[in-house]
Amino acid sequence: MQNFDYRTPTRLIFGKGVIEKLPEVMDKFGKKILLTYGGGSIKKIGLYDKVKELLADFEIFELSGIQPNPKYDPSVLDGVKICKENDIDVILAVGGGSVLDCSKAIATGAKYDGDPWDLISYKAFAKDSIPIVDIITLAATGSEYDCGGVISRTETNDKIGYMDSHNYPMVSFLDPTYTFTVSKKQTAAGCADAMNHIMEQYFCEDSTLLNDGFMEAGLKSLMANTVKCLENPEDYTARAEMMLTCTYGCNGIYSLGNSQSGWPCHAIEHALSAYYDITHGEGLAIITPRWMKHILSEKTVDRFVKYGVNVFGIDSTLDKFEIADKAIFQTYKFFESIGIPMHLKEVGIDESRIVEMAHHIAVNEGLENAWVPLNENDLIKILTDSL
Ligand code: NZQ
Ligand code: ZN
Repeated sequence: MQNFDYRTPTRLIFGKGVIEKLPEVMDKFGKKILLTYGGGSIKKIGLYDKVKELLADFEIFELSGIQPNPKYDPSVLDGVKICKENDIDVILAVGGGSVLDCSKAIATGAKYDGDPWDLISYKAFAKDSIPIVDIITLAATGSEYDCGGVISRTETNDKIGYMDSHNYPMVSFLDPTYTFTVSKKQTAAGCADAMNHIMEQYFCEDSTLLNDGFMEAGLKSLMANTVKCLENPEDYTARAEMMLTCTYGCNGIYSLGNSQSGWPCHAIEHALSAYYDITHGEGLAIITPRWMKHILSEKTVDRFVKYGVNVFGIDSTLDKFEIADKAIFQTYKFFESIGIPMHLKEVGIDESRIVEMAHHIAVNEGLENAWVPLNENDLIKILTDSL
């Protein structure tokens, strides 16, 4: 087991109706709030009105229209401007991971004198930030419990995932009923994203029985509950378990003491989203089985055997490569069964920019240090196999 130094400072407030605690929570941070949200789903589900009603005593500024794969320009820059001009005390992010990630970049950008992109691209490190509270409305990213953020810059085809301890939300409200309206497409994509967060931690050199069991249970929980959510979008128990399992995704708790994998599928998917603005979870679902096939070898096969036997119940007496092949096939089949398009061409990506994307990933994502190192030719192969 590897050494670690671990702390997640975020307070989680979970369950039906917990939003009633919002005024008391916000009051601790100040009276001037920047309310951030996306394209309008929070208005459709009545959450916007509820927040405004509960916070009637606060001064609220708004940044709306934050898009999936949140954009540096205009969203981050506009948010920083509002915070600086109005001396905002606290940001309240209401929506999915994109709204929250954008808010994280705003929170540090507003306390920084230079170009906020410096902080996202690790040219500089934040010294301060505006506190963030969030109400998450989509189970997927785990952004509500981690210090990561992912921001896109269209003109340079960059989609950068970065970590900064200032990015931890102070408080996250998790009410599964707000996810009842999440579409089938986004429910399935959220599942694929959260499953891949676990796989990125599971497929590594050095893990423990404890972590393997936790992650295998997480994968099984996500698969079983996603099927239930798709059948009945208002199944509270299924939405609730899915939400919590997703929340654990990216804050490291699944893999304390494990060696690092390099998060290869995320590195590849970030390029797909940067170049083509596709849905993150769909890109991951397409890449994952192709990446698995590509890295299967004598070195990696035992991890695939464990995954196949413990997650999919494959017969452990079979030949180890047969188990691995079946596990990869079942991974593919599960994603397909929940309605995810499983070919890049189905999400509008053809071969024309594969070489360019592979080069971009190789230069920017450090996959030469992954558990199974990937060079430009490996990336071209994985992307081509995904077409
Ligand atoms: O914009 P609105 O109108 O709110 O609609 C959104 C959006 O169109 C909609 N939606 C959200 N909640 C809803 C709802 N529709 C109906 N009912 C609700 N309750 O869903 C659409 C997608 O929203 P988005 O926030 O983009 O989805 P998600 O939460 O999957 O976030 C994806 C982003 O997070 C990043 C991804 O790269 C992507 O940019 N990630 C962030 C991570 C992190 N911070 O730790 C880790 C992940 O690996 C991921 O990379
Ligand atoms: Zn992800």
